[in-house]
Parts: sequence; structure tokens; C-alpha cells
Amino acid sequence: MNPDDLKKLAAARALELVTPGMRLGLGTGSTAKHFVDLLGERVADGLEVICVSTSEVTEAQARALAIPMSTLDQTPELDLTIDGADEVDSQLRLIKGGGAALLREKIVAAASARMVVIADDSKLVATLGRFPLPIEVVPFGLEATRRAVVAAIASVGAAGEIVLRRKPDGSVLVTDGGHYILDAHLGVIAQPESLSAALALIPGVVEHGLFLGLATAAILAGGTGLTIVGALE
Ligand code: 5RP
Repeated sequence: MNPDDLKKLAAARALELVTPGMRLGLGTGSTAKHFVDLLGERVADGLEVICVSTSEVTEAQARALAIPMSTLDQTPELDLTIDGADEVDSQLRLIKGGGAALLREKIVAAASARMVVIADDSKLVATLGRFPLPIEVVPFGLEATRRAVVAAIASVGAAGEIVLRRKPDGSVLVTDGGHYILDAHLGVIAQPESLSAALALIPGVVEHGLFLGLATAAILAGGTGLTIVGALE
């Protein structure tokens, strides 16, 4: 199976968790896109759910599939969110934000009773950090915030290049919330909780891609089948 088939396999298993009447959070990225496609088929067959998206891209996809959409203002408590991840460890700690949607993804996950990660099993890591950690920042005061981020990272014994994310055309990437993203190339994040706390203290940091204590399970698809981390139900 190629990586895209594995993503679809994980998405299909997650779809089995969906029951009529559920309030769902819809993630962002290529794996979550498979889930939304499959959910759209079930909705077309009569499944009744109400969904909140984590990005403009997912919102447009879901609406095109005629999936009933809501907002967190109208539907502030969700039963289940299905989303991808850039890295997941055995304690269900995640790095997210490779698709630049980390802020809404974290808000939606925090509003959900359960968050189930879907991914191919290459995303399962022993230690977080090989994937650059996305840090969403306010454009105002960017250089001052960047320096504060470097200091926060150093305070927990980590280090690495901090790169302002750009689009393929070279322009600075702007998130759905109107912010920039600094990608921290750390290699290893030995203390995710300490780094999360240090970054949260910086005024110009809106959010970061460490998702700690949010995921309740992960469905990881590999050549030999599915691996489940955590409890699906
Ligand atoms: C978007 C995300 C994605 O969930 C993450 O980047 C994984 O994406 P993919 O399923 O395409 O590998 O965090 O902000």
C-alpha cells in the first residue's frame, strides 16, 4: 500500500466511530481530507451529523459534499474530532500544524470530548521533534517574538533554526487567523510540557503545535494493518 492508501485506511476505521446525531470536529490535511470524503458518502446515504471544521479548506470541502456545518459558537461542545498529525508519540502527545491550521485545530480539539488522530504509521515517533514545531505568531513585533521564542526554547535545553514559513511562491504564509508561522527545527523535544509552558508565556505567540493531553486515541495504518494507541471508545 502506498502512503495515501494507508491514510485512507486509517480514515475508514475512524468513520466507524461516527454514530447518528454526533457533533463532529473535522481536521485538516491530506489524511483528514480522506475522512471528510468518506463522511460525505455516509451523509449522502442519510447519516445525520453536525460538523465544525478546523480550516477554510476543510470547510469548503465539507460544504461541497453537503455535510451539515456549524460553528463553535453555535455548537460549542463536540463529541468527537478526527484529525491528522505530523508526529504522535506513545503517550498521544502530538506535533500538528504542518498544514498551518494548528490554532483552529487546537481550539476544536479542546472543545471535543474525544480527539482521534488518523495517520500512516510513519508519524509514530519515540521522541517528538524531528518534524519542525510550528509556532503561530502575531505579525506585529515579529522579530521581538522570534527572539523570545529562541530564548524559550533555550530555557528548556533545546535549540535549532527558527524559520518563518513561506508559500512556494516565496511570500510569507498567512494563516486562516491572519497570523504567521515560525517553524522551529529542534530535532528532539525532550520536554514537550516544559516547552509548551514556556512558549505560552510569550505575548506574540498565539499558539504552538504541541498538542498535549488532547488526543484520546490514534489510528495508525501500516503495511501490516492498523495500530491503535489509546482508547477508541
Ligand atoms: C494541519 C495538520 C495536519 O493534520 C498535519 O499536518 C498532518 O497532515 P497530513 O494528514 O497531510 O499528513 O496539523 O495543520
